[in-house]
Amino acid sequence: MSFLNNIIVSAVQLMPKSVVGFFSRKYIAGESLDSAVSLVKDLNAKGIYTTLDVLGESVTNEEEATRAFHNAMKVFDSIVEHNLQANLSIKPTQLGLSFDEQFACDQIRKLVKRASEIDNFVRIDMEDSPYTDATINIYKTIFENYSNVGIVLQAYLKRSYNDTVILNKIGTNYRICKGIYVEPASRAYKDKQMIRDNFLKMLESMFKNGNYVGIATHDEYLIDNAYRMIKELNIPNDKFEFQMLLGVREDLRNKINNDGYKIRVYVPFGEDWYAYSIRRLQENPQIAGYIFQNIFSFKK
Ligand code: FDA
Repeated sequence: MSFLNNIIVSAVQLMPKSVVGFFSRKYIAGESLDSAVSLVKDLNAKGIYTTLDVLGESVTNEEEATRAFHNAMKVFDSIVEHNLQANLSIKPTQLGLSFDEQFACDQIRKLVKRASEIDNFVRIDMEDSPYTDATINIYKTIFENYSNVGIVLQAYLKRSYNDTVILNKIGTNYRICKGIYVEPASRAYKDKQMIRDNFLKMLESMFKNGNYVGIATHDEYLIDNAYRMIKELNIPNDKFEFQMLLGVREDLRNKINNDGYKIRVYVPFGEDWYAYSIRRLQENPQIAGYIFQNIFSFKK
C-alpha cells in the first residue's frame, strides 16, 4: 500500500460519523433485523446463502452481552419465520469474552443449542490475537456436545497452520480468511504473498483431512487456486463453500454462483455499525480516497 493510501486509511477514523455511514451503506444491511431479512430474501432468490451478524463487539459488561445474546436469538426466530437460507455469525467479545470467558462460552453454547433445535449453525468469528486461544477453547468445549458450530482461522497469523493441524483432528467446520485486525509482526505475516501462501497451505491441509471449509476471500489469486485445489484433490461440493462480505466484489460472487459453487454472503446489520464500517473503508483506500478528496479538497 502506498504512503498516500496509508494516510487515507488513518484519515478514515477522523471522518464525521455521518460521512462514514453514507459510504458504508453498501457493506451493511441496515440497522434493523427486518432490513436484514429483506436483503437475505433477495440474495436467497439468486441462489446465494447468507450468514447474519448482529453488529457489535468488545462489550464490557454482562448487561450489554446479554442484550447481544437476545438479539442473536431473534435472528433464529426470523430464519424460521421467513424460511431463510441463513445461519449466524457471532463475535465472542460481543458475548462477553473480554471480561469473562466462561460467561461468553455459556452464552455461545445457548446459541448453538438453539441453532441445533432448528437445524441451523453458528460460526464463531475470530477477533484479534489476544482472544485466539480463548476462542479456540470455547469452540472446542462447545463442539464436545454440538456439531453445528464452526470456527474461523486467519492466514496472517503465524500460529494458524499449527491450529489447523490440531483442529483437523476433531473434524472442524472452518472459515478460512486472511485476517483483518492490526497485529504485531511477531505474530502475523505482513507480506501479501506470504499470507496467501499460508492460506493455501492451511486450505490444503483442511481439505486433505476431510474438513468442511468456508473459503472467505475476494482475492482472485486465492479463488483461482482454491478452484484448482478442489479439482486436483477431487473435493466434493458438499465439503466447501465460498464466502464473501456484503457489498464487496459482487461480480466475482456472481461468477462463483454461476460456476455452480455454493456461495455465502456475510450480512452484517444493527445499530453498532460504526467499527465494522471503519474496517471496511480502511480495506478500500479507493473509496476512502474519494471521501478524503471531497472532505479535505485534497488532490491526489
Ligand atoms: P484482499 O484484501 O487482498 O482483497 C481482494 C480484493 O477484494 C481487493 O483487491 C478489492 O478488489 C476487493 N476488496 C476487498 N475488501 C474490499 C472492500 N472493503 N471494499 C471493496 N473492495 C474490497 N477477518 C477476521 O479477522 N475474522 C473473521 O472472522 C473474518 N470473517 C470474515 C468473513 C467473510 C465471509 C469474509 C469474506 C471475510 C472475513 N474476514 C474476517 C475478513 C478477512 O480477514 C479479510 O480482511 C477480507 O476478506 C479482505 O481480504 P481478501 O482475502 O478479500 O483479500
